[in-house]
Parts: sequence; C-alpha cells; structure tokens
Amino acid sequence: MDSRNIRLAVIPGDGIGAEVVTEGLKVLEAVVGTKVETTTYDLGAKRYHETGETLPDPVLDELRGYDAILLGAVGDPSVPPGVLERDLLLKLRFQFDHYVNLRPVKLFPGVETPLGGARPEDIDMIVVREGTEGLYAGTGGVMRRGTSHEIATQESLNTAHGVERVVRYAFEKALGRPRRKLTLVHKTNVLTYAGDLWARVFDRVGLEYPDVETDYCHVDAASMFFVSQPERFDVIVTDNLFGDIITDIGAAIAGGIGLAASGNINPDRTAPSMFEPVHGSAPDIAGQGKADPTATILSVAMLLDHLGLAQEAARVEQAVADDLVERLTGWAGRTTHEIGDDITARVTG
Ligand code: NAI
Ligand code: MG
Repeated sequence: MDSRNIRLAVIPGDGIGAEVVTEGLKVLEAVVGTKVETTTYDLGAKRYHETGETLPDPVLDELRGYDAILLGAVGDPSVPPGVLERDLLLKLRFQFDHYVNLRPVKLFPGVETPLGGARPEDIDMIVVREGTEGLYAGTGGVMRRGTSHEIATQESLNTAHGVERVVRYAFEKALGRPRRKLTLVHKTNVLTYAGDLWARVFDRVGLEYPDVETDYCHVDAASMFFVSQPERFDVIVTDNLFGDIITDIGAAIAGGIGLAASGNINPDRTAPSMFEPVHGSAPDIAGQGKADPTATILSVAMLLDHLGLAQEAARVEQAVADDLVERLTGWAGRTTHEIGDDITARVTG
C-alpha cells in the first residue's frame, strides 16, 4: 500500500450523507495527506429521480477497480421503500461479496450510555454480521398479491461455504483481541435447519482455535444481555438479520447512532470493501449542520485499518476518543463542520 496512492470511491448519497462524508474525507486527507485519490459518485435518491437509475452496471464495474469505497447514506422519503436498499446497497454488498459486515460496539470514555453504571470496559465488542445470505438473499415470492388469499414467503438462505467463511473470519478476529472470546448468536432452538448448520460449523471450526473461548446465545437472550450484561461479549458472529437488529441495540448502548461505524468487508479482497456509518440519511436534520460526523470518521478509521494503515487508523480513533471526552463539557452547539474540524486538528496536531 505504501508505494502507491489509495484509490478511493466516494458515494456521499442523500440527506446528511454528503455532510458527514465531507468531514470524514477531511480527516482522511489530514492523516494520509496526498496519498489518497478520491473520485465521487453521484448515486442515491437524486440520481434515481433524475434518471431512474440506482446502480448502472458500468458504474458497478468502475467501482470494482478501487481500493475501497466510502459511503455516506442513501434514502429519501420520496423514493419507494426498498428501491435504494435493494438495488444499490444490497447490490453492492452482494456483487462485491461483502460477506462480513463488521460493526464495533464500543463505549468511549465520556460518552453517555442509557445503561446506568456501565463503564467503557463493559461495552467493548465487535459484531461480525454475515452480509450476503440469510433472509436478505432475496429468496421467496408472492402470489395473489393484494387479495385476501395473498401468500408471501421470504426464505433464509444459508450455505455451508457462506457460514464457514464468516465464522472463520470471526475466530481470527477473536484471536487478535485480548479476551479471545467468540459468541455465536442465533436461534438454533426454533430455526432448526439453519441454526443446526451454523452450530455445527461453529463447533467444527472452533476446534482449530483452542485459544478462543466460545459461547452460544439465542438472539432474544443476546438482546437482553446487550442491555443487562454487555460485558459478556467480546466478538459475536451471527446471521444477517440478527446482526442487523442487535447492532442497533449496540449503537443505542454505546452512545447512539451518531457514533456507530461499520465496514462491509470482502476479506478475500476480490472486490473493494465499503465503509459507512450505520445511520441513514436522516432527512429530518439534513442540510442543517446538525449531523454528527463521528460515525463516518470512525468508519474512515476502519477503512484505514483494512488497507493496512493500522497506525493511521489508531490516530483517527484516538482523535475521536479525545474529542468525545471533551464533549462532556463542550458538545452542545457544535456543527457538523466544527466537529470535523476539531477532530482533524487533533489528527494533525
Ligand atoms: P436515520 O438513521 O437516517 O435516522 C434516524 C434518527 O437518527 C433520525 O432522528 C436522525 O435525525 C438521527 N440521526 C441519524 N444519523 C445521525 C447523525 N449522524 N447525527 C445526528 N443524528 C442522526 O434512519 P431513518 O430515519 O430510519 O431513515 C432515513 C432514510 O435513510 C431512509 O430513507 C432509510 O431507508 C435510509 N437509510 C439508509 C441507510 C444506509 O444508507 N446505509 C441505513 C439506514 C437508513
Ligand atoms: Mg439496520
């Protein structure tokens, strides 16, 4: 990576997406200087209204050539639900084989949590959510739509290959952390076919990782433990839908949606990975300078880490941590730009 520039595709998207991405890029440029070359892609609600396009194939092919993608958020109330999610976000995740959706849940010092008494050391986990299968695979169908005899099915697709690769990734992740604990979250008692596959793969791969402590938790119990005993968790591996839901609980306990970062990762590096805040386009606050860019900036740290720039990633994370501590006194009233400027100054200073 050192010998050449980072080629980054940027998809600011809709609403606050562009606002937070501007700040993320500011921090990125501050930390890697001229080593980053960005190209901006106009995708999202505006493009959809103007041209009817969501993600044209030539654009998809072009995106494939980058080292990574930074995304703000897409979506607008004026676009029918599902269009941008399915034809843009999910299409990118599937086409680029982002089989790991990585979502850290970490309470930084100074950040308020709704969990009374929880300390930063109690909330420090990483959720490894499967990204290409499960209920999001799009299998199923509908008959007699709109009638009282309507039949709708939506099937969860789980392949031995797909489960094994994400489980292996999670074991490796756990091995690299001090606690070395991995929890499988599923619903094996009810989802007996899919759950059985996940449990068998988890147990079998686990034999190769004797240094990683393993645990299992049903998803409903895990949801409860997220708020009652978050210290139970270190690394979690789970399927697509369960991961989507529990990471929203994770965002809530770790300081809210303005801080939650994520990476859609292709660990085999056959296509670029994509980093984005967990939040959406927030039409209710768009254009007002009220959006917190921190989730995007933390996503930039994940991006740097993925590209092998671990020191730079750590600098960004430290700058965010320092900024968050100061928010105890000075948060109110700062605009999106001001937060971005303050974190940039810490990175350079
Ligand atoms: P949202 O995450 O956009 O907003 C939920 C609430 O959190 C709103 O009150 C918003 O003001 C607040 N919020 C979100 N991000 C914030 C930030 N950085 N700083 C301060 N406050 C923030 O979710 P919502 O309202 O359900 O969806 C809005 C649109 O975004 C929809 O069109 C949805 O489809 C889309 N969306 C897109 C995602 C993506 O691009 N990956 C993910 C989630 C939603
Ligand atoms: Mg979600």
